[in-house]
Amino acid sequence: MTAKAALYRDLLLEARGLLAGERDAIADAANLAALIWQRLPDLNWAGFYFVKGQDLVLGPFQGKPACVRIALGKGVCGTSAAEARTLVVPDVHAFPGHIACDAASNAELVVPLARRGSVVGVIDLDSPLAARFDAEDAAGVEALARLWLEASDPL
Ligand code: SME
Repeated sequence: MTAKAALYRDLLLEARGLLAGERDAIADAANLAALIWQRLPDLNWAGFYFVKGQDLVLGPFQGKPACVRIALGKGVCGTSAAEARTLVVPDVHAFPGHIACDAASNAELVVPLARRGSVVGVIDLDSPLAARFDAEDAAGVEALARLWLEASDPL
């Protein structure tokens, strides 16, 4: 097992413990964002956006204050939500329509949160390091996204 796979295995176990016994979606998202922020190296932002109408609206996060509202289909987050797929972006400056909330961000990973086939939000991670995220990060954060969906009631 790679060091990164072991990190995500431990993180998933810790997250399971943290979310157990509480089904409030915002409380669980807040603690999960904080845990990701504490445990994953080289992040400058980690958090949630939730679908409201035709927009993603800012949810619990760690990092600098961020864009509050992103139209579905716009930016990395809005594209991930509209297409219901994980996006690993090695260089955000090369992503058409990228929304720069923090000028320090160079790489981004966005994982959609899909409840029974419909996207209810995304988990968004930003890094100042180019190409910070890879397929292992995507798989690890997808597992955390499934955990949040299972551990909490619909918003
Ligand atoms: N960069 C994102 C916007 C959200 S912030 O990074 C927190 C995007 O292009 O969707």
